[in-house]
Amino acid sequence: MNDQVQARNTSAGLTIWLTGLSGAGKSTLAALLTDRLREQGQAVEWLDGDVLRRNLGRGLGFSREDRFENIRRAVYLAGMLNRHGVITIVSVISPYAEMRSYARQALPGFVEVYVDCPLPVCEARDVKGLYAKARSREIPAFTGISDPYEAPADPELTLYTAEQTPEECIEELISWLTEHRLYPM
Ligand code: ADX
Repeated sequence: MNDQVQARNTSAGLTIWLTGLSGAGKSTLAALLTDRLREQGQAVEWLDGDVLRRNLGRGLGFSREDRFENIRRAVYLAGMLNRHGVITIVSVISPYAEMRSYARQALPGFVEVYVDCPLPVCEARDVKGLYAKARSREIPAFTGISDPYEAPADPELTLYTAEQTPEECIEELISWLTEHRLYPM
């Protein structure tokens, strides 16, 4: 086993946790970050809320309990991937501070990134047409409209997607990780 592989296997792991409103740009940033880290030869997996829910979350809705269960599953997977030296990028709304502290205590290399975008901007984008449905009450308990989003009080990093391009956000994130010696692993 060469030194690099050994270092990966014994490292605490790295999970980059993107939290923010629907439409804030979490998935866009996660996709770009995944590509960028892969290009640099890192083992990376991306766990996205919509994809997780489709594959492992059938039957889970958007009550507080179901959202917690969704996050618990994401944390379990991230921990497993981390143990194998895989950088894990998680993009989930994760609206409650309590669920993010759970993730933080469960994952040793946890980096909370607040993808900050004002609600009116997310709503104007309405990429999936869900805000319109939330306003008309067709979708109940929609985060930011009829369900809470507790903005992180002390995230490792905040990215402002209404003010910066996705590329600029990713540059900032990779610089932050590098400065804090979390990357490259
Ligand atoms: S979380 O709250 O459990 O972290 P997650 O990120 O997995 O949420 O899923 C959010 C995605 O589900 C949104 O991007 C949106 O596409 C969809 N969605 C459907 N209904 C809701 C709702 N009531 N609140 C928020 N997102 C919803």
